[in-house]
Amino acid sequence: MFIASESLLALIQSRRTCYQFDSQVELKADALQLCLEAARWAPNHKLTQPWRYWVLGPNTQSQLAEIYADNRARKKASDECNYDCLYQKAIAKFQRIPQVILVGQVLNPDPVIQKEDYAACACAIQNLQLMAWNLQIGVQWSTGPILQDHRTHALLNSDPSQIELIGALYIGPISAQDQKNLNSNARRKPLEEIVTYLS
Ligand SMILES: Cc1cc2nc3c(=O)[nH]c(=O)nc-3n(C[C@H](O)[C@H](O)[C@H](O)COP(=O)(O)O)c2cc1C
Repeated sequence: MFIASESLLALIQSRRTCYQFDSQVELKADALQLCLEAARWAPNHKLTQPWRYWVLGPNTQSQLAEIYADNRARKKASDECNYDCLYQKAIAKFQRIPQVILVGQVLNPDPVIQKEDYAACACAIQNLQLMAWNLQIGVQWSTGPILQDHRTHALLNSDPSQIELIGALYIGPISAQDQKNLNSNARRKPLEEIVTYLS
């Protein structure tokens, strides 16, 4: 039933945020389903299950691309590169993402529960990322401005007073070589720096 601890650790250590995907390989619906299933089993205090997921189809992704591009072009526009040029580039970039999933947190009025619920959502996203990595699928968890944009909520038909969007997950197949290369960028502090053992 359980996988070897070394294998589990290797999976956790090797996972990296991905910014480039392999457009030649199809992202299978059953693989995506496994990722969402892994997310569903994340720990969550008082079983609030505060996560909600929107799995975008091509039509919604095109509409979100416009919101993404508008935010990006407004932020970066300068004398050398004008709004329209940046906007078109950003549209193309967003459209190349094989799969976008938006993650929302149901907002509990109690601030303590709200904090716990955010932690639970983060656990769920990490479950999803680990399952994805094991399936040779890369994920970038983005917290960019589209999440705060009221137009994104309108697109999802979600109420910002009830749901906070906490992640845009950019997902797609990656090659074994890219997985290996990404892993070589890994950096973390050693345990001695971050753990204090008390008597
Ligand atoms: C809460 C959270 C928000 C993040 N937001 C972004 C983001 O907006 N854009 C981005 O490129 N990466 C984002 N990341 C990914 C981190 O930058 C990434 O995890 C970090 O650089 C470590 O790299 P690794 O995931 O490859 O280990 C986010 C990660 C977390 C946990």
